[in-house]
Order: sequence, then structure tokens, then C-alpha cells
Amino acid sequence: MSKRIRHHVNPLSMNYLDFEVKKPLLDHRFTEVELGCAEGEFIFDRTNDKPEHRIIGLEIRRSLIDDINSKAKGNFPAITGVFCNINTHIPRLFPKETVDRFFINFPDPWFKKDHHKRRVVSPSLLSELVSSLKPNGEIFFQSDIFDLAMDAMSVFEEFGPQYGIYNVLSEWSFMRNNPFGTMSRREKYVTEEGLRVWRILYRLG
Ligand SMILES: C[S@@+](CC[C@H](N)C(=O)[O-])C[C@H]1O[C@@H](n2cnc3c(N)ncnc32)[C@H](O)[C@@H]1O
Repeated sequence: MSKRIRHHVNPLSMNYLDFEVKKPLLDHRFTEVELGCAEGEFIFDRTNDKPEHRIIGLEIRRSLIDDINSKAKGNFPAITGVFCNINTHIPRLFPKETVDRFFINFPDPWFKKDHHKRRVVSPSLLSELVSSLKPNGEIFFQSDIFDLAMDAMSVFEEFGPQYGIYNVLSEWSFMRNNPFGTMSRREKYVTEEGLRVWRILYRLG
């Protein structure tokens, strides 16, 4: 049996920092974006759950985006996959007030201390996401790695107030359950394994 090997991409490598991106068409629909959508399991499940939503998946591995867009063509008109680097392309992809909700589902943990700078949530990403949010827009983050979730929460809690976003539960609080229903591939796996998931939801307002 062939074994699928996951090749991690260093998002800070020069090859990935700047390249042309194909902007997705944005319209009046409720727009949801998953950062780091991998094979797209979440976005396809999401469009089944919410067919009226516009759903966009962002991914740094081009072949996965090609597969997602081939699968979406014809059958899933609300879905678009975008080959991009979350660290550099958000403002180009999403102008001001165009997105209702960002999902950051189980981002790469980059465990080694030297690699923490590759982690996706940073003050600059937060400022870019917030500026793309529509009024009352939301950012949802979840991970089964406590250290990574704390790292993300620290960024949201420290810089959120200056960008006008607040923790929907209360400051420094994790959410027990996923309020949106649709589960990502990693979420299904860790849930089956009985592992704890650390979730946070921030809203602009
Ligand atoms: C651990 S997987 C999680 C996949 C899915 N969200 C889930 O919950 O099952 C993280 C994904 O983010 C992608 N990724 C990591 N850094 C990225 C970046 N800077 N820009 C776009 N995608 C990135 C990886 O290639 C990988 O597919």
C-alpha cells in the first residue's frame, strides 16, 4: 500500500514569500475563508452544510488547490481554492470588509522554538484579517496543541482590543465546542481520539 507523505512547506522561504495570486471573485454572499485548507475536506463539508455561503480555502501547496478547484468545478459552485501564502497575500486577496468569517483550523504547530516564527497567527496577520472583516465578522481558531492555542490567544488578547475585536466568551477564555458544526479533517481525527481541542472565537464589534 502506498503511504502518503506530508511535505511541510516553510512559509518563510523566499520561494513562497512573493508570487502572483489569483484573486477569488467576491460577492454579496456570506463569505467564509479557511486558512490552510489542505485537501479541502472542511470547505466541501461546509458547502454541504451552508450551500448559501461563499467558501474559500487558502493553501500553500499548489497541487492541493488544483485538485480542490477541479473537484469544485461544476458541482460545488460556491467553493474556490486559492494557492497563496497566508503570511503575505491576505490584503491582496481580501480588500476591506469582504469576509464574514475566517477559520484557522489546526494550523501547523512548528514545535521547535527556532520554528515558532513560522506559526501562522501573528500581530500582522491579525491586523490584516480584521481589516478584511465585515462588521460583526469573526475569526475562529482551533487546535489540539495547547501551547499553540495559547500562543494564538496571546496575540488575539494583546492586540485584539486595538483592532476592535473581542473574545466572544470572555477575555482569555477557550470554547469547549465548535459552534459552527462543520468539522475539519484534523478535528474529526482528534475528536475520535478523545483529545481536547482548544477553541477561540473573536468578533469585530
Ligand atoms: C495541519 S494542516 C490543517 C488542515 C485543515 N485545516 C484541518 O484542520 O484538517 C495545515 C495546512 O496549512 C497549510 N499552510 C501552512 N502554512 C501556510 C501558509 N503560510 N499559507 C497557506 N497555507 C499554509 C499547510 O500546507 C497545511 O495544508
